[in-house]
Amino acid sequence: MSDGNVNLYLVGFMGTGKSITGRAVAAHLGCQALDSDHEIERLAGKSVAQIFAEDGEAAFRVLERKFIESGHPSRGVVVACGGGLVVQPGMLALLQFKGVVICLHATLATIIQRTAQTQTRPLLNVENPEDRIRRLFAEREEIYKRAGTVILTDFRPQHEMVMHVLRTYLREAREWEQKHGLAPADGGRGGAGRSAVNAGAAAPGGLPPE
Ligand code: S3P
Repeated sequence: MSDGNVNLYLVGFMGTGKSITGRAVAAHLGCQALDSDHEIERLAGKSVAQIFAEDGEAAFRVLERKFIESGHPSRGVVVACGGGLVVQPGMLALLQFKGVVICLHATLATIIQRTAQTQTRPLLNVENPEDRIRRLFAEREEIYKRAGTVILTDFRPQHEMVMHVLRTYLREAREWEQKHGLAPADGGRGGAGRSAVNAGAAAPGGLPPE
């Protein structure tokens, strides 16, 4: 990673390849890859689909926020964020305060095609998933476009995309360090092994102004 191990947050709509890209980028950087959905599932002891069904979407969004606020290491990780995570009010500013944010984007047609076989995404478990995607895409597109450097993933070989993300990260991590100083040591707080639900510690350095 960068000298200070600045975190990298990959955001973007469902089906833009955040998880697979996150794992490949982390392997190149020699650091840990985390997936917000998987961490939440591990900590909650049930799947995202079950959380949506039993507790509701709002409860899932609270878990996402807690995971970002205090449920993961403050440096040295690449986090693939669930598609709706960055859409929540104040989340983009929080992510940018905690590290480099890169948005993976794709055209509607690509997203529809890539998510066609999905069984695990509760938001698409509806009668007309394509219509749902179109509506969510329209609602969210402006936020994704503002969410850091946007990298288009359509028609791009995976390897080329990973290299593009890496180059962007290395440049932006240096800029992040110039602005914020070295990323704070985690000091054991908010590690991936700790419950995001119960972790009450504030983000190192405090939260960004809203
Ligand atoms: C969601 C995206 C999913 C998951 C949940 C909600 C969304 O993650 O967090 O189903 O609101 O876009 P992926 O983007 O990894 O599919």
